[in-house]
Amino acid sequence: MSEKVHRNLGMELVRVTEAAALSAARYMGLGDKEAGDQAAVDAMRAVLRTVEMDGVVVIGEGEKDEAPMLFNGERVGAGRPPAMDVAVDPVEGTRLLAFGRPNAIAVIAASARGSLWKPGASLYMNKLVVERQARHVIDITRPPAENLYRIAEALGRAVESLTVFVLDKPRHRDLITEIRGTGARVTLHTDGDVMGALMAAIPGTGVDVLMGVGGTPEGVLAAAAVKALGGGMQGLRAPQLDDERARLAADGLALDRVLHLDDLVADDDAFFAATAITDSPFLEGVHFDRAGGVTTHSIVIRARSGSIRFIKGMHRLNPEHIFGAVDTEKAVALATA
Ligand code: FBP
Repeated sequence: MSEKVHRNLGMELVRVTEAAALSAARYMGLGDKEAGDQAAVDAMRAVLRTVEMDGVVVIGEGEKDEAPMLFNGERVGAGRPPAMDVAVDPVEGTRLLAFGRPNAIAVIAASARGSLWKPGASLYMNKLVVERQARHVIDITRPPAENLYRIAEALGRAVESLTVFVLDKPRHRDLITEIRGTGARVTLHTDGDVMGALMAAIPGTGVDVLMGVGGTPEGVLAAAAVKALGGGMQGLRAPQLDDERARLAADGLALDRVLHLDDLVADDDAFFAATAITDSPFLEGVHFDRAGGVTTHSIVIRARSGSIRFIKGMHRLNPEHIFGAVDTEKAVALATA
């Protein structure tokens, strides 16, 4: 496979996330997370067909029977080399989109066939993410406070100056107390830990560390970005549901095995692309103007070159295409329910 093919891939993948974000954005704040997700899935799938790769979805919308499109095992791309594993989340943060909150993104990662971690029965994992300069000091098996002191030292900063991204979930009560005990600052978010990981891995975003339990698919997507950025990430399976625990036990999967970046993404030439749907402090969301123009903001990262591109797209779309399919009656019913 030629270098030219590979070099183009990141730029092709961003067209996929742009399409998903453009289609999902019209559903912002309408209270219907399925409709926004479906619009993004449809758009992503349509554009994926044009991407020069022979892709297999390994992190998708679920198993075939429950997800009609972008299911695990589905072939995507134009069907020609390079052979790639593909991880997608057409809307990462479906509730963020449905309620018009920050940090909803459309996201995709691709890496050589067989190189992305397959979570199997694991739905949740504990994650610890930092930027490059602190990557050698993290150890997810050690207490969070110890990690924060080590990270602060590696960054040459006071622990009180660190900001830690944590999902605002009841399961994180003790974690939040422990972080606060060190004096570090906490930024709590209802959803969207891929954006949290991205911000933690890029210096100067206002987030220094991501800690806590989130989805395993989101963990693999984040790992592709963190690896490409040269940051540090470790994970541990952290089942939250009885059924999940039982399935992991039946499969004989150890919960104490640390998942390093090379386990999550085994190849050194991973690609990651994301387009913001709603605004975030890091990446502006999809904005519509009066003349039918639409603006998108995306990030594309390639591991081999370490290049990070921020891409502003200005699109001219027929307003019918953007707003035509919204079921306004349903949206009003949901909003007033
Ligand atoms: P969705 O896009 O599927 O709604 O997921 C959003 C998210 O917040 C992820 O960012 C996070 O990893 C996961 O859900 C956490 O799951 P839960 O809300 O079940 O704790």
